[in-house]
Formats: sequence, C-alpha cells, structure tokens
Amino acid sequence: MHDGFIQLDTQNDDLIRAELHDGLRAANAHTSPKYLYDALGSKLFEAICELPEYYPTRTEAAIFADFGDEIAASVGSGTTLIDLGAGNCAKAAKLFPALRPAQYVPVDISVDFLRDAVASLRQRFPEIKMLGVGMDFSASLTLPDAVARHRRLFFYPGSSLGNYTPDEALAYLQRIRIAIDGDDGASFSGGEGGLLIGVDLIKDHALLDAAYDDALGVTAAFNLNMLRHLNAVLGADFNVRDWQHRGFFNAGESRIEMHLEARRAVTVTWPGSERRFDAGERIHTENSYKYTQQAFTSLLERAGFSVRHVWTDPQQWFMVCHACPSAG
Ligand code: AVI
Repeated sequence: MHDGFIQLDTQNDDLIRAELHDGLRAANAHTSPKYLYDALGSKLFEAICELPEYYPTRTEAAIFADFGDEIAASVGSGTTLIDLGAGNCAKAAKLFPALRPAQYVPVDISVDFLRDAVASLRQRFPEIKMLGVGMDFSASLTLPDAVARHRRLFFYPGSSLGNYTPDEALAYLQRIRIAIDGDDGASFSGGEGGLLIGVDLIKDHALLDAAYDDALGVTAAFNLNMLRHLNAVLGADFNVRDWQHRGFFNAGESRIEMHLEARRAVTVTWPGSERRFDAGERIHTENSYKYTQQAFTSLLERAGFSVRHVWTDPQQWFMVCHACPSAG
C-alpha cells in the first residue's frame, strides 16, 4: 500500500495472449471488449461520451442531477462508496455533496488512472477517506481489508453491466451481492448502501444505431484502435486500413453489436499462428445489451436484490436503480 492506493493484481501476459489467440482463431472470431481500452482507447471513449449521438452519458448525468437528493435519501449518507470502473472519478465526485460517503473507494484496472483524480478530490473533500484500488474488478471483487465493510454501496454507472451477456451479468450481480456483505460473514443490515447502477433501456432502433455508429467516426476509431492494441499485446500485424467498423442494434438479441469487418481478404499473423479473413468476414468486438425496466428488475431479483427505487429521464431512455440485498 502506498499513500492511499493499492494495486492488487497485475495482468498475466501469457493468459492474455492465449485468450486472444483462441478468440481470433475461433470460427466466429471474437475478442473481449476490454481490449478497446488502451491509453488511446480510453481517450476515444471519453470523446464518445461527448458525442451528440451517444445519449447514455448525458442522460444518466441528468438523472443524477435531477434526483441527487432522492438518490441520497434512498442510499443513505456515511456509506462506503465503491466505484467500479471509476476512471477519472467524475461521476461519483458529482454525487459527493448529496451522498456524503464516509469512505470513497475508486476501483479501476490500474491505480495510475486514479492517482491524479484522487489527489484533487482529496483537496476538495478532505472529510471523505479515499482509497484507490487497482484491480481487474471483472475478474474478482475481493476487496482489500482497508475497505470498510460498513454500509457498502457499490456504484456501477454508465450501463457498463450491459457489456456482459445476461448470464454473465446475473453472475456478476450475484458477486456484488456477496461483496456488499463483505467476506467476513457479516450481513447487510438493511436500509442503506447496496447497489446504485445505471442501465441503458431499449429505445428507437435508429437512435441506438446512431449512438454506436456516429457521424464523426469516433466510435469507428474506438473500435479500430483495438487492432493497434492487439498488435501491441499479441505482436500481431493487423493493418488498420484493411478493416472497417460495424455497429448496429440486433433486436433479436436486444443488444448493440460492434464488429470489425475485413475490407478485403487478409491474412493476419502473430507469434506462432495466423488467421486468414475473407473480405467481409468479421471480428466481434463488443456487445452492449439494452434492457426493459422490467427485464432488468427481474435480473436484479434473480441475483438476490430487491429494488428500492428506480429513476428515469422523461423519455425513459436510461434508468438509475437503487437495489439492496433481499432479506433471507
Ligand atoms: C463502456 N460501455 C458501457 C460502452 C457502451 O455503451 O456499451 C462502451 C461503448 N462502446 C461503444 N460506444 C461506447
């Protein structure tokens, strides 16, 4: 531990390469969306959040701004606020004046992302204890002992859960449900803490298509940048110019799909292997599931939560939900 930061695990390069190799060699080539986020990818995602077509970020922000006091009344003050995928900590920081947490625990893959943001937040909110945790929270939610077990409130905004399949999302919610209690056998005392989560809702398909295939091509750059990242981590020789972005709503699966499509027949090589792609063949890079309020509520219930409160925008494009472990 150093100055209020803990880096829990570092990535295993051999495992990463094996996972990428298997995905690229599969009949329907695919990669995990986590490879969208190298340093440039994270910046491109920030740019996406500014786009007029990408409604989730600003719609969720408006819900937090409009209902901050109601949200605070529902989750309670003095919580241990655990921010999953905190990034620059901006979303949680906007809620501090209303939520007044006792401890703020921003979690991200690397503490380096958190360092500057936490340093300036400490100045602004000296009364809140802060502990930055670097860990792959998609793999584990076992938090360090220095994270208080008292009134844990997991904050999972931005509809990030949508990047999991519904089965994975259920399993992940169950893990959060367990982590709320801590792993010392203590159980949720009721009333405060729990889970505060942002979820994107099904809407007009043209709006969904545009949000993931914007006019400026920022989402295309975000998706294509994954190839540069794969070249770096796998030693592959993707030529970005051989590929194009595809992003569209698949209504049957209730999800946005992002793919990279070969513009011409290409053979991609990496140490020890290669793969030929025909013109038009795709690599599936991301899913972003969209829910109805009812479907998401029932997912929460199956994971052992009961829904305390739901807030939406006037167009019902996005919802923020406070849920607590259900009794028994
Ligand atoms: C991070 N995640 C919730 C975003 C989404 O909307 O699924 C990632 C993204 N992909 C393309 N645009 C944004």
